[in-house]
Amino acid sequence: MEQLVIEGGRRLEGELEVQGSKNSALPILAAAAVTGETSILRHCPRLRDTDAAMRILRYIGCEAERAGDAVIVRSDAPKRWDIPDDLMREMRSSIIFLGALLSRFGRAELSAPGGCDIGLRPIDLHLSALSALGVQTEERCGRLCCSAPNGLRGASVTLPFPSVGATENAMLCAVCADGETVIRNAAREPEICDLAAFLTGSGANVRGAGTDTVTVSPAETFRATEYTIMPDRIMAASFLAAAAVTGGKVCLRRAAPQYLVPVLPYFEQTGCVIKVSGEDVLLHAPNRLRSVRLVRTMPYPGFPTDFQASAMVMAALSQGTSVFVETIFENRYRHVPELQRMGAHITVHNSVAVVEGVPELCGAAVQATDLRGGAALVTAGLAARGVTRVSCVGHIDRGCERFEYNLALLGAGIRRIDTDME
Ligand code: EPZ
Repeated sequence: MEQLVIEGGRRLEGELEVQGSKNSALPILAAAAVTGETSILRHCPRLRDTDAAMRILRYIGCEAERAGDAVIVRSDAPKRWDIPDDLMREMRSSIIFLGALLSRFGRAELSAPGGCDIGLRPIDLHLSALSALGVQTEERCGRLCCSAPNGLRGASVTLPFPSVGATENAMLCAVCADGETVIRNAAREPEICDLAAFLTGSGANVRGAGTDTVTVSPAETFRATEYTIMPDRIMAASFLAAAAVTGGKVCLRRAAPQYLVPVLPYFEQTGCVIKVSGEDVLLHAPNRLRSVRLVRTMPYPGFPTDFQASAMVMAALSQGTSVFVETIFENRYRHVPELQRMGAHITVHNSVAVVEGVPELCGAAVQATDLRGGAALVTAGLAARGVTRVSCVGHIDRGCERFEYNLALLGAGIRRIDTDME
């Protein structure tokens, strides 16, 4: 079993280039299956989740291979519209292949997706959006069998909640539908804009991404394209948090500061000095962070749920009391008992967490329970006195590219060990 072993107390200093975005790469990899052409996806992060998406692409008959920082997908001859259970279970985002397969074949067969255990994560919004586009769904022996017996047709789709995945699935289906589709109350996340730009570059016409109304005109023909995946805004924020809790000073290169607007004020309120210079973001942390009165997670451009756990580590070490309200997922405080083992003072009542800052955390053996919670435990370990051992690192590997290597570049005392070999 692999563990990350962290010797805490070292100040992070230096510069780092931010990895490509996982949550952008995954729908774009699925979209590459739709075009029937060659897609070269630059800055595609090497992660457990992107590897899983590449395995799905190969299973359905596409070629998917890495070349340097790129993934090259050739989708001229896919032959399968089903995804087996074991591939679906590998990650939640496998559901994004539903829209892609329907676009390509007019049908799809798959089971409920796996992924991080952060709440129920139903797919009702995906299915009702697809139904407006002409998709019928039947459940047979735990498998979802979807088809469009009269073809996919452009439609007006209004989402009851701006779900990221449902917006992406509707967009993927709409690029091959007959006529224009308008998605209202669409998610406004930057990753939606990235998917829209890839689809438009490949021959469709997607307008309004980044607003709550996305209009998709289908592609007459698709073309081969080369596209650079956007920087990972959550990883950028996570590295800034790691520097903040160690009293550090870092410069993140290629950090796409425009997408960090929902989180940069948080760092400033805690007393960090932030400077933006072109695509770079510099952070200089104070000796002791200050608490922030209230952090409420919301859909973009609100405070991201994916950064809640790392922000909580900052609050746990700050002077004063901070209150967190998690409004997106119902089970996203699973890092809290682990932080308590390290000496954090946190109480949770349903969706509210009250964090009383302490001057110091102490190293402990803790377990990553999901990707972002796991990254937050590593962050806590960097600031803690003594040694922290984080187990179940597979969760972290879903989304953090070469995490320990990059943290070590900034001066962290961190290494990966295989406990079976010790
Ligand atoms: C995306 O998940 C991200 N994943 C998540 O990041 C992120 O936390 C989330 O958006 C919110 O920003 C990817 O992009 C791959 P949603 P997604 O559909 O699309 C409910 C990470 O750590 N809902 O916007 O699954 C749902 O239960 C991951 O990188 C329904 O009720 O998020 C949740 O409460 C974790 N029915 C809320 O909506 C549905 O059909 C938001 O979900 C769909 C969603």
